[in-house]
Amino acid sequence: MIEQFKADVANGLSATPKSLLSKYFYDEIGDKLFVQIMHMPEYYLTDAEMEIFEHQADKLATLLAPTTGTFDLIELGAGDGTKTVHLLKELQKHREFCYKPIDISSHALASLKDFLQSELPDLKVETQQGDYFEVLKGIADNGNPKAILFLGSNMGNMLDHNAKRFLSSLDNAMNAEDKLLLGLDLKKKREVVLPAYNDAAGITKAFNLNLLTRINNELGGNFDVDSFEHAPEYNEEEGVAKSYIRSKVDQEVRIDSLGESYYFEKGERIHMEISRKYNEEILNAILGDTSLVLQEVIKDSKNLFADFILTKQST
Ligand code: TRP
Repeated sequence: MIEQFKADVANGLSATPKSLLSKYFYDEIGDKLFVQIMHMPEYYLTDAEMEIFEHQADKLATLLAPTTGTFDLIELGAGDGTKTVHLLKELQKHREFCYKPIDISSHALASLKDFLQSELPDLKVETQQGDYFEVLKGIADNGNPKAILFLGSNMGNMLDHNAKRFLSSLDNAMNAEDKLLLGLDLKKKREVVLPAYNDAAGITKAFNLNLLTRINNELGGNFDVDSFEHAPEYNEEEGVAKSYIRSKVDQEVRIDSLGESYYFEKGERIHMEISRKYNEEILNAILGDTSLVLQEVIKDSKNLFADFILTKQST
């Protein structure tokens, strides 16, 4: 783990342009800041998708469950389950199924289990800890139809070619009757998107800069965090929000455990993360030659966010 972290930081900081991987955001402090971001007034994504799950759970349930028999509801990156619980409650009224949340954080899975135990004591739950790319290989076949959930615009954090690869591996893991729900943020005006990644309270800034602190603590770096600033961008045409950290001065940063120093010019940026915004056309392009097709698009009342329901094309 630490060896991989070292190698990834060394690679990213010696590249032109410099970059760091967003998966390293999530140490203990990063996890907490991330939860705070979700509650910032500018961060509309969570509320919008929550509204869909609260008000249109019956529709989601009808689209996702097979017409008869039991099925597995698999959730990739399940988190705290506060959206999904509305769908689970709806499904429990009519259907027999097993809920299978997968998350990289065993801590998140444990508290999710507790939460569901108190909300829905009769629910069948099987948690699985792991990277969803890895776990995907294992979900394939117990013979039950499945519906797969991937919420929260998490696919938006993948570069388009990675999203393509990801969808094609989901496609391979799915059978004719299976369903996929992708929760994706919609492409829209800069005035709405950018503040979501640049909240006035500075939580997103702290979240990004925390990775420099993490490198200081875990890899013996001497980043002077105050001499860097958070500089997100959103290109309306392209529909991609990009997070950068920018050096405020010419400076050299030493990272002891890498035995290296890195030079930053004033204004030089480190690329941290992207968040792609979607519409039907963009999603269809990314679906490419998979056998997945759009069945339905369910939006919140303000048209900010969409849950896209996909099925396998019948041949
Ligand atoms: N996937 C969500 C998004 O793109 C959540 C998220 C990931 C996020 N990294 C983030 C939110 C960094 C704010 C900042 O919005």
